[in-house]
Amino acid sequence: NARKRSRMLELNKEAARFFYQTLHSPQGQTALDYMNRRQISPTIARRFGLGAAPDRWDSLLMAMTAKGYSKADLLDAGLIVKNQKGGFYDKFRNRLMFPVIDIRGDVVAFGGRVLGDGEPKYMNSSETLVYSKRRTMYGLNLAKTTKRTNMILCEGNVDVVMLHHAGFDNAVATMGTAMTQEQVKMLSRYTKELILCYDNDSAGQKATDRALEMLGNSEFTVRVLNLPRRKLDTGELVKQDPDDFIKFQGADAFERLLSGSEHGMEFRLSQTAAQFDLGTDQGRLEYSTAVAQLLSTIVSPVEREIYTVRGAEMAKITPEALRLEVERYRKQSY
Ligand code: CTP
Ligand code: MN
Ligand code: MN
Ligand code: MN
Ligand code: MN
Repeated sequence: NARKRSRMLELNKEAARFFYQTLHSPQGQTALDYMNRRQISPTIARRFGLGAAPDRWDSLLMAMTAKGYSKADLLDAGLIVKNQKGGFYDKFRNRLMFPVIDIRGDVVAFGGRVLGDGEPKYMNSSETLVYSKRRTMYGLNLAKTTKRTNMILCEGNVDVVMLHHAGFDNAVATMGTAMTQEQVKMLSRYTKELILCYDNDSAGQKATDRALEMLGNSEFTVRVLNLPRRKLDTGELVKQDPDDFIKFQGADAFERLLSGSEHGMEFRLSQTAAQFDLGTDQGRLEYSTAVAQLLSTIVSPVEREIYTVRGAEMAKITPEALRLEVERYRKQSY
């Protein structure tokens, strides 16, 4: 098993090398153009080992078998796929390739982005002997040595790459899946503070809520960097992710958002407040119930007290009343 693992890692490294060389060959021109269009610089592309999968059915298959790897090896590593007639073809074709590198520096998987429009937008390696999605974070191999005191959690490969390029070498991503306890535990080896910076669309909002809930009882200080919508010339407001924001507003503006980012509980209080009309008695009543439930989940008594006072201020009710309500929910949860 250990031998199988190390052989698969060797194969992955060789495949990453193949994609990297392809990007810098005539076959990689479309991917290179795509990279330039997205302002992914050659320097940062090298740091992340980005590559290109050729627009052919068997490029990697041929290259790897020439190096002595068998179809079974490539199949196990998830790099080729079997068709109905029993033939084999490359899983990743005509894509910008992002090797997924674990904290030991081994290439464990790949993410491939279509060059332009097309479905699926991203293709990711399936789980293998060396790749467990729950235990991997994109970018952590680099972010683990950051001098910054926190880590930025975002959704996408390109977000991580662009953040690093802009000087935020503490950015990591979960690659399209919800954050897991395993990932939280891994992050705790490197930092005490997490900053959630998901896309400001509804999927990102949901992911933020889920992450806040999950991190609620952890040792982490959690903050939320809420990206503003971007105003077009037409006046229309559009959603954006960290990559878009950096591109249009720049690194300094991102740094300002970072230092101004709210603490997780503050963020949740404002989120909750926004759901009710605090100008009416009914709204304040409903808000108090919702907020008391939220506050009752805070483990630390001091923290609970601080946010109870804050929550009461927002609805202009006395802290005493809210405190009683919070205690009621705490008793219920035992
Ligand atoms: N993702 C995926 N499969 C998809 C769509 C998304 O695995 N079909 C993952 C990718 O890792 C992606 C992340 O989820 O980076 C976030 O998704 P999304 O916001 O849609 O993609 P972006 O990273 O913003 O993609 P891009 O900027 O390249 O358009
Ligand atoms: Mn640049
Ligand atoms: Mn998104
Ligand atoms: Mn994006
Ligand atoms: Mn996005």
